[in-house]
Amino acid sequence: MGEGSFLTFDGKLVDEGSGRRDYENETLKILFERSSVRSFLSKKVPENVLRRVIEAGLHSASAGNLQPYSIIRVEDESRKKLIAELCLQNFISKAPVLLIFCLDFHRLERWARLSDAPFTAAQSFRHFWVAFIDVSVCAQTVCTAAESFGLGSVYIGTIIESAERVREVLKLPEKVFPIILVCLGYPRVRPKPQKKLGYNIIVSNEEYCEPSDEELLKAFNEKYDRIKVKVTEERLKLAEEVYRNLLGEELAKIFCEKIKASGYFNPAQYYFLLHYRADLMCRGNELFVKMLEKAGLKIFKE
Ligand SMILES: Cc1cc2nc3c(=O)[nH]c(=O)nc-3n(C[C@H](O)[C@H](O)[C@H](O)COP(=O)(O)O)c2cc1C
Repeated sequence: MGEGSFLTFDGKLVDEGSGRRDYENETLKILFERSSVRSFLSKKVPENVLRRVIEAGLHSASAGNLQPYSIIRVEDESRKKLIAELCLQNFISKAPVLLIFCLDFHRLERWARLSDAPFTAAQSFRHFWVAFIDVSVCAQTVCTAAESFGLGSVYIGTIIESAERVREVLKLPEKVFPIILVCLGYPRVRPKPQKKLGYNIIVSNEEYCEPSDEELLKAFNEKYDRIKVKVTEERLKLAEEVYRNLLGEELAKIFCEKIKASGYFNPAQYYFLLHYRADLMCRGNELFVKMLEKAGLKIFKE
């Protein structure tokens, strides 16, 4: 950092004289300028680029260096369309490449069997937990490597909604389970980086530190200052239903009156009433456990 320059909270170097914004290095530039891309050019991703991007992911940290994952590349148009339908988001089919990151205990089990070694990871919550992290670390490394080639990406978490069908479509063997889908391609539109909660809210020194209510609300309001969701009949009806299901008739009326009076849903209300319905969030837990069991992952049994 040269004299006469200072570092902003988001890692940018600002030259005091010229006001020019810069980053300390290329890696930070990639990390701070990234954003999820949902609109792609039809331009093909060259094979050598895609190979390097994925290989970078395979080079990431992994517990015990076991790499308990497989990545399924999907580029076939009809298969992409089907995956997009299963993930309930049409734009997915327009991405040139889909990468489905799967937790894979099948390969490790085969290796163990071929080597006269015991293998119980598929019955262990602990192993599942760590392997899940391995998958995420690999996927994020792939996304960052993709950015370094000028590609854009977006994670798709709704792959869990139809995981069983996805397993059939991709012919995943027992003990292989889709965790996250990443869409990759050259951005048609590169959205502005999203605001994030900052250092002071997220980081504590030595021990967990609570911000005051005012500090906390201020941080979230600054982050979501672009979310302005007006009250409409339809939204209010939905909100009332969610409140009623969780808190009963009386409180539902009180909260909805407040929302009506303000004219807007605040960002938290938008997220937990309208976007991720809080009353539906916990439904289906048992189904997900069953889905894992059906795939041979009996991680909640002793
Ligand atoms: C685990 C995970 C699941 C996600 N699932 C979806 C998804 O299903 N659809 C989508 O459009 N974006 C999805 N995203 C992207 C987020 O919406 C995005 O990261 C967030 O809005 C912040 O924006 P940014 O990535 O541009 O910073 C997901 C991100 C993560 C990490």
